[in-house]
Formats: sequence, C-alpha cells, structure tokens
Amino acid sequence: MTHILQRQTGVVAPVAAGGDGIYVIDKEGKRYVDATGGPSVACLGHGDPEVRQAVIDQMEKISYVSNQFFTTEVAEDLADILIAGAPPGIASVTYTCGGSEAVESAIKMARQYFVEIGQPERYRFIARRQSYHGTTLGTLAVGGHVARRAAYEPMLMETSHIAPCYAYRGMAPGESEEDYGLRVADELEAEILRLGPETVAAFFAETVVGAALGAVPPVPGYFKRVRQICDRHGVLLVLDEIMSGMGRTGTLHACEQEGVSPDLMTVAKGLGAGYQPIGAVLVGARIVDAIAAGSGTLMHGLTYMAHPVGCAAALAVQRAIRDRDLLANVRRQGAVLSDALQDRFGNHHHVGDIRGRGLFWGVELVADRDTKEPFDADLKLNARVKAEGMARGLICYPIGGNVDGISGDVVMISPPFIVGETQVGEIVELVSEAVDAALATVTGQ
Ligand SMILES: Cc1ncc(COP(=O)(O)O)c(C=O)c1O
Repeated sequence: MTHILQRQTGVVAPVAAGGDGIYVIDKEGKRYVDATGGPSVACLGHGDPEVRQAVIDQMEKISYVSNQFFTTEVAEDLADILIAGAPPGIASVTYTCGGSEAVESAIKMARQYFVEIGQPERYRFIARRQSYHGTTLGTLAVGGHVARRAAYEPMLMETSHIAPCYAYRGMAPGESEEDYGLRVADELEAEILRLGPETVAAFFAETVVGAALGAVPPVPGYFKRVRQICDRHGVLLVLDEIMSGMGRTGTLHACEQEGVSPDLMTVAKGLGAGYQPIGAVLVGARIVDAIAAGSGTLMHGLTYMAHPVGCAAALAVQRAIRDRDLLANVRRQGAVLSDALQDRFGNHHHVGDIRGRGLFWGVELVADRDTKEPFDADLKLNARVKAEGMARGLICYPIGGNVDGISGDVVMISPPFIVGETQVGEIVELVSEAVDAALATVTGQ
C-alpha cells in the first residue's frame, strides 16, 4: 500500500533503510552494491560523515534565504571552487536544484545572451538524436530521447537533431575514428546553414552520452571540430555534463579530455553526490559580460537557487573529492573496471560493445554480435537485467532505446569514486550473473 504515484504503478520498490559506503541496505536488512550510485549520482557513496556534518553545521546557522536578498558563505565558497576548476573562459556559476533546471536555465541564458547583444533573431537550438537533457518541456524538446518525448511531441518547441557521435553503430566500414568524428560533426554545420546561421543560438551535447546511449564517449577530434563550427557561425556551445561531469570520467570535467571549453556547461548529479538536490550552470565570460553590459539582470530565477544547505553539501562533497584525491581513484579503479569488463564480457556471445571512461561504463547487449542486431524491444531485456540484479543485491542502471530510440539494451555501471579493487570485482561478478540470468529468460539458454 502506497500513496506515492510510483514511477511504475503496481511495482513496489524495496524500502531503503540505510546506506554504508557503496552499499544500500533495505528494511529487511538486505545489502545491495550500489554499482551506479542511482543514475550516476552518489559519487561519494552513502553516509559520508563529513558531508553529513557540513549539512548539520549549515542548518544550525541558517537553512534558507533567498538569493534575491542574501548570498551565503557556502554558496560563495562553492562558486570559488567551481570556477577554480572550470574550463578556460568560464567566469560565473548559477545554481539550481537539479539537472533539468540547470539545462532549462542554460537554454534561457543562451537566448538572453543573444537578446543582450542585439541578435534577437537567434532563437533556434540544435542538439543530437539519442540524447537526454532533462524532463521539463524545454529540456525535453532539446533532448533527442524518442521514448521520453513521445507523449509530449505536440507541445515541444522545434529543435533540430543531428546524429550522435556513436562509433560502435555509426562508423562506416573502413572509416577511421577521426574521419567518422569529422563526418558527424559536420552535420552540425550543414544544419546551421540549412536553418540560417543568423537564427541559431546554441548547440547542446552531452560530452559523454549517458542515459540515452549508455556511457558513450566521443571519438578524438569530434568536439574540436564542433567547437570550430560553433565559432565560425557565432553559435554557443553548451555541454551537458550532468551525468558525465564532476569527476565521473577521471577528470573534473569530461570536456578536459576533448581539449575544448564550452560557453555554458551544466552539472548536477555528482556535484552534491545526492546528499542534497543541487545543480549548476557554469557560465562563460562572454555571457556574463553581455548581461552586465546589457540589462544587468539575469532574466531567470528560482526560489531555491543557491539553497544554503544544498551548497553546503556540494561544497563538502567537492572538498572531499579534492582532499582525498578521489579523481586518482576514479582513474585507477576505472582501469581495473575496464579490464574486468573486457575479461568477463569481451568474448560474450551477446555483448557487442564495452565502452566508457573513468568510472562510467556501458555494456551493450545484442542479439547477434556480427550484425549488431539488438534484441526485440518488447522483451525489455534491460529491465530484466535490472530485476535480476536487484534480486542478487546489485543496483545497475538499465538503458533501452540506444539503437534508434526504441530498441537496444545497455547495462550502465558507474560506481562511487570511493570504490576499491575488491568491490570492483564483486560488481563485475554480479553484473555478469545478472546479465546471464536475464539473457536466459529471453534466449532460453
Ligand atoms: C545528461 C543529463 N542531462 C539532464 C538530466 C536531467 O537531470 P535531473 O533528472 O536532475 O533533472 C540528466 C538526468 O539523468 C542527464 O543525465
């Protein structure tokens, strides 16, 4: 009996009663390895005493003020840390309560920028197919997630969607990774020219694609070309690092590994590690300057922007990542995880691709390795893997629709940054059992 409208009616989830490092414990005392930290959120694991104390300390001072009246030390200190670690050109931070609000804010800031600089005819957005940028109407419109958009199609603002950078499925036979990357990046230029460059405001992309493709990194050179095209046509580059950023790929920001800086960047999940709901937009100097020289007003606001308790939690999380040198552990355990996945699944009959970076990995399941044919979407293989995992005390993140928005199954693994080598082994063992058990229910073998 529940009065909560569940994500899936009729499905009663176990009751989480506690958390301990990389484990979640339910009311019956069963332990689950949190191999994804929810959807790549709990990067410090559960029950971190320093973060808990920071939240208590802030609540003892003050829990809420509106940033229309006050700023707070925690909000300022967090902004200082974020700017110190930000890609070149990023000058300011604005806070939200989560990812969708961050992307929605970025959409509006991109538009405001062009209004401020006297180019109000720029209002169009370009993004990619098989992408996810959030659940509100603006962010859903920008995203290219077919299933999540479907019911709302008539209400969504018009957005252009070009091809994703998805080497496993997109690279032509004989084509090099670099040539493939340039080919799909050039779709951006073709679309800008088709729409009329003077009408295009921004291009949105996840640096490493999360929930829509399953931890797919770009090929070398792709984002450099994208950056050049944006610059050539005066279009802003907005990188959505809500899932892939804040250390998940082994560097603080995923775009560091691409050698590009965005004009706007959204972060959330790992920012507060789930200890409080918080997101942020990192804003480029040209946008900050344009607003300052123009209206002087950010035409966008939220009641809980820069929430003091949220900022206190995120500040403690970000300090912990730095003080405990956790990015080094992400890289170290990421290599261990990559090797273990290759060992376990490299020759698996139904695994087509293993890809990722740092502690952000996807194992793509296919019906036929040679043709890359996916399983029938109606079989809901990824949901079966999730269920088999939960039964065995494993939380892994199932993804469907990666092939064309409808079919495709990927198991995503993104453990907390505190994970140790033995635990990585435990995770891969459990993922392997869950995958084989789920496959047995659809193939009968
Ligand atoms: C890349 C990306 N953008 C935006 C969002 C939306 O974030 P939220 O669910 O916090 O609103 C997500 C969430 O999964 C995401 O992965």
